[in-house]
Amino acid sequence: EKGGFEHFMLKEIFEQPTSIADCMRGRLDIAQKSIKLGGIEAYINQLICAPKITIVACGTSWLAGVVGEYVIEEFCRIPIKVEYASEFRYRNPIIKPGDIIIAISQSGETADTLAAIELAQAKGATVLSICNVVGSSIARTTQAGIYTHAGPEIGVASTKAFTAQITVLILLALSLAQQRKTIMQASFEELIDELANLPDKVKTMLQQECKIKGLANLFKDATNFLYLGRGYNYPVALEGALKLKELSYIHAEGYPAAEMKHGPIALIDENMPVVFIATQDRTYEKIISNIQEIKARKGKIIAIVTQGDERVKQLVDYVIEVPATHEALMPIISVIPLQLLAYYIAVEKGCNVDQPRNLAKSVTVE
Ligand code: F6R
Repeated sequence: EKGGFEHFMLKEIFEQPTSIADCMRGRLDIAQKSIKLGGIEAYINQLICAPKITIVACGTSWLAGVVGEYVIEEFCRIPIKVEYASEFRYRNPIIKPGDIIIAISQSGETADTLAAIELAQAKGATVLSICNVVGSSIARTTQAGIYTHAGPEIGVASTKAFTAQITVLILLALSLAQQRKTIMQASFEELIDELANLPDKVKTMLQQECKIKGLANLFKDATNFLYLGRGYNYPVALEGALKLKELSYIHAEGYPAAEMKHGPIALIDENMPVVFIATQDRTYEKIISNIQEIKARKGKIIAIVTQGDERVKQLVDYVIEVPATHEALMPIISVIPLQLLAYYIAVEKGCNVDQPRNLAKSVTVE
């Protein structure tokens, strides 16, 4: 049932070229250059006119929401707020009839997310969902939704559900942007083509498994890790740190790279491994300065870079190259090496990767 893989998690990481394609199937029409999201058709006009959108979720699904925030704001020019469901529900949040809430959940059973949805609905909001499990409580409770179609995720740590959630959010953003006329047709078409190429690029990325395994061996005894990224790769940094913590029990923190100098830089010495996600996007020059700041303090750097990058390579200790794509789509590719790194460090340490201690696949208690 693990399809020849040692763990469900590894199988699910390697399923991503397929799960991303499944998530886009029937929705992305490459020939027609169009996007159709059947599940939320009845609410599309409300979404197009929404003055703001609130996303509620927990954990890795919350992080997919942060990528969604960046993508929807960029292309649709709609203000987005991403909320931890557990905070939102107890804060007496401002919700008015007609407001739009999008709940994101792999399992569709997370107690805090479900409670946040019920609260918003009681106040008259329209709540849509992005769920993986068909017929789950959240999918049934919400007015409409878009399934991620990533297939069953057995490993407790979310991997293929995360990349599918981001894929759905990008499809949603592009579809809304086109209808709101906040994106140029040429950019829209370029993004459609890039989406179509994603499964192959993820496949290429997975071929670096052995290299990442080697890095895992070098860093398995570290007691701390920092993950730094900017822009679209900032939530990826947070997700990389979360994966490492939950799988290998190594303390890890994700941070927006430029925030380093406001405190965490004090932690840097020759024993601190720092993972930079430094692909070539609008923040590239800025993140190079951040890398130099860490190097000057002797931190050990692993950098995720765009294929062919020479500048970062000269500055850091180790690089992992990822195929180039549009910066808004990069999180789907740049998270893959971080999933593999956390997986292999945990395996090296003898941890139970499919069932890390203290964790459950569905958190049905608050
Ligand atoms: C991390 C992880 C958790 C879940 C969170 C929400 O790898 O799996 O952080 O993302 O418990 O779960 P869902 O998406 O089922 O609501």
